[in-house]
Amino acid sequence: MIDLSDIAGFPVSLRDDGYLEFGEGVISPAPEARRRSDMAEVLLYPEQSGPDILYHMYRATGLEKDMIPMMNAGLRYDITVIHPGKIGSEYIKTLGHYHPMAPGQLYTYPEVYQVLHGKAHFLMQKGGDVTGEIEDFVIADFEKGNILLIPPSYGHVTVNPDSEPLVMANWVAREFSSIYEPIRARKGMAYYNVEYRDKSIFMPNDSYGTHPKPRLQNPGDIPELGLYRGKSMYKSWQEGADLNFLVKPHLYAKLWESMGVGAAGN
Ligand SMILES: [Fe+2]
Repeated sequence: MIDLSDIAGFPVSLRDDGYLEFGEGVISPAPEARRRSDMAEVLLYPEQSGPDILYHMYRATGLEKDMIPMMNAGLRYDITVIHPGKIGSEYIKTLGHYHPMAPGQLYTYPEVYQVLHGKAHFLMQKGGDVTGEIEDFVIADFEKGNILLIPPSYGHVTVNPDSEPLVMANWVAREFSSIYEPIRARKGMAYYNVEYRDKSIFMPNDSYGTHPKPRLQNPGDIPELGLYRGKSMYKSWQEGADLNFLVKPHLYAKLWESMGVGAAGN
C-alpha cells in the first residue's frame, strides 16, 4: 500500500492490487475500467498478448466538503491508474482524445495533469484531428509531482513506460465530452511508444501524413496559474489558485499565445 495523500491533496492510497482506497471524507467513485478490447483500434499490435484491464479511471473525486465549491467553479478532479505492462512491445497507454470547443468558440478546453506516483510519458499533438497533418508533437517524460498543462487544440495520450503503476490526476472542466474518433480513426497518436532492447522508443504511425520531430517538454512550474512542481494541484486549488482557464479559456488568450497556441483556425 502506498500513501499518496500528500501529493493528491486528500487521503488516498494505492493498494498492492492496483486499486485506489479513498480515506475518510473523500468521495470514492467506482473505478471505470478501460480494457484492451475497447482499445483495439489504437494499439500498434492489437492481436498480441497483454493484460485485459489497462487502466482505471476514478472520475470526480475530492473532499466531500469541496464538492459544492468545485461544482460552482465548473471543475472536476479525476485520478487515473495506468497499470504497468505492454501489449506486444507497446507500453500501456490511454485511449487518447481531443476536447471540444469551449464557450466563445475560440479555443478547445485545456486540461492540467499531475503525476501522483510512477512515471509518465505524456504525448500531445496539434493537428491530426481534421486532416492527418501534425503541426507539433510533444513528449513530456514526467515523474511524481510534475505538472503538465495541455493547451487548447492538443490531442493527448498518457503512457506508462515503467514497471510500477502510474497514478495521475487531472483538473478539467466538468461539462464536456471528449472526442475520441480522430485518434481511433488514425489508429492512435502520430507516434507509438514501444520498448526496443529494454529502451523506450517512439515509432511513427503511418496513418498520419506528417511526423514533425517530437519536442521534449521539461517539467516546470506554472506560476501564472498558481501551480508548482511538487505541490499538490488539489491543494493549490483549495488555497485559491485560479483554475478558471479550464472553464473559460477564451479569457486567457495571452497565456495560449505565450505557448504558441492561436485561436482555432489560426
Ligand atoms: Fe483530456
